[in-house]
Amino acid sequence: MLIAFEGIDGSGKTTISTRVHEELRRRGVKSYWTTEPTDGPIGGMIRDVLQGRMEVDHRTLALLFAADRVQHVIQLESLLEEGYTVISDRYLLSSLAYQGCDLPMDWVREINRWALMPDLVVYLDLDPVVALRRIKGKQLFHSLHKLKLIRTNYLNLIREEEWSSRTVMVDASKSEEEVFQTVLNIILKKLRVIL
Ligand code: TYD
Repeated sequence: MLIAFEGIDGSGKTTISTRVHEELRRRGVKSYWTTEPTDGPIGGMIRDVLQGRMEVDHRTLALLFAADRVQHVIQLESLLEEGYTVISDRYLLSSLAYQGCDLPMDWVREINRWALMPDLVVYLDLDPVVALRRIKGKQLFHSLHKLKLIRTNYLNLIREEEWSSRTVMVDASKSEEEVFQTVLNIILKKLRVIL
């Protein structure tokens, strides 16, 4: 099963997804945690852009995210075949929600056509004002206006038929413990169905 954690910056994806991963392992589930952008060479280029060390056009950045994902998917496919439950901190919906702000959504979908659809998307929903308060460092996407647009994109996307059936929306304004328990229960329920 491929589980993607999604949400705007500051929504707590990394904290919650790593805790869930550790708890699944503790319970004997063969869980693998991964992230996008990846730590591969293309992910490295993406981080250079995000951290201002390299400047590229929006289209180039969208292609870099898509290319990074193609390489990631090859790796994910073998992990899934080996029976791992894979948890990805960000995945395809991040490109649609983020790059979809600057570029035609259909094109962003097209360049991501090779991405495997996730079995479950955990969308951590958070008010951008609260998210900004949580974010410490500054990065390319961290302006209130931008975060509002990204959240609107996420909310619209997860209403689409393709996504609504595989997405659960979780209120990320709750305490870390509450969010963690809610997400863990959702995933355990799903896994019991599959295992
Ligand atoms: P991430 O490593 O999740 O940043 P952080 O840990 O600071 O939340 O992601 C880096 C940034 O890349 C984040 O602002 C979202 C953006 N992003 C995209 O725009 N498109 C994508 O396809 C992905 C995977 C991430």
